[in-house]
Amino acid sequence: MTKPLQIGIIGAGRIGAVHATNLATRIAGAEVTAISDIRLEAAQRCARDLGIPEVYDDPEPVLTHPGIDALLICSSTDTHANLVERAAAAGKHIFCEKPIDLDLARVDQVLKAVDRAGVTFMVGFNRRFDHNFRRVRELVQAGAVGTPQLLHIISRDPAPPPAEYVAVSGGIFLDMTIHDFDMARYLMGCEVTELYVEGGVMVDPAIGEAGDIDTALTVLRFENGAIGTIDNSRKAVYGYDQRVEVFGSAGAVRTENDYPNTAIVSDSRSIRTDLPLNFFMDRYTESYVTELNDFVTCIREGTQPPTTGHDGRMAILMGYAARRSYAEHRPVKLDEIAR
Ligand SMILES: NC(=O)c1ccc[n+]([C@@H]2O[C@H](COP(=O)([O-])OP(=O)(O)OC[C@H]3O[C@@H](n4cnc5c(N)ncnc54)[C@H](O)[C@@H]3O)[C@@H](O)[C@H]2O)c1
Repeated sequence: MTKPLQIGIIGAGRIGAVHATNLATRIAGAEVTAISDIRLEAAQRCARDLGIPEVYDDPEPVLTHPGIDALLICSSTDTHANLVERAAAAGKHIFCEKPIDLDLARVDQVLKAVDRAGVTFMVGFNRRFDHNFRRVRELVQAGAVGTPQLLHIISRDPAPPPAEYVAVSGGIFLDMTIHDFDMARYLMGCEVTELYVEGGVMVDPAIGEAGDIDTALTVLRFENGAIGTIDNSRKAVYGYDQRVEVFGSAGAVRTENDYPNTAIVSDSRSIRTDLPLNFFMDRYTESYVTELNDFVTCIREGTQPPTTGHDGRMAILMGYAARRSYAEHRPVKLDEIAR
């Protein structure tokens, strides 16, 4: 039997703990050797709960650990670029949570370092591994809707983040819409060439005071001529609203939200269900398992990762274009940003 892939985790916060748990309990062919967090107690908690043998408050021993094959970078966004470069220099395969960095020039440096090292590099766009969206992608690819002409993505959070988080998040387009930019490219199987944003502060004035917006509609033009929309709100009172539709010459495919149960209450006044699964930890639970399973498989089999550095870069590029479109109130071609 082949030896299990040895994995090190850097960052034991919300998402680091999810990945650590999935690796320890649900993913075959891999083991977590070490975990580090500058908040030692967070790493210790994971290690204790999951039986991870080595714990550090410094990423260095994990980055350079001779027994570790691959690293998960799950620390705060502002640390990703540096940690990825150091992991690549140490010859480790890398899974990096989105975004690679908020600065596009820095992203380009990181991608060069990864290329030079020749290691596997996967970016954490977990929604591609969601059962609903994966099926839509397969159907579109198989020609089930004919030639795709229209795409709609509805992506609304149940509640806005605190204003302190907003201030350092990179703004709605790099923090929230980044997932939808990636989803748009994934579902349509082609690049976006131009986009236009209308947006505003409609949910919480504190978000405006922190320099961001909380509501946005982005219109996309794809290189195959199709048109798309991304509809974002930081607050949907009925919970996490995550739906897509692709419409084409031969029909359409769409998804509904996922629910905690299928109970439907009918009475003389209305027909009701419970609210959808609330927020990403509940809604996308299984996507995180599939995502890491695919990471482990692509390293073990020497195949291309399903989400690449290019995908990570394109979503950030689209975020830059969206910011400019909103600021200048005009359509922005992605070429303008790449130049
Ligand atoms: N794909 C997704 O669905 C998804 C979901 C949540 C978060 N994320 C991304 O994952 C990253 C972490 O988000 P989170 O919500 O888990 O944040 P978090 O604040 O809960 O956790 C981040 C952890 O990193 C630790 N850390 C900071 N600098 C470090 C360093 N140099 N070395 C080791 N540990 C360090 C912090 O102490 C903290 O425990 C962010 O970049 C975020 O964008 C992705």
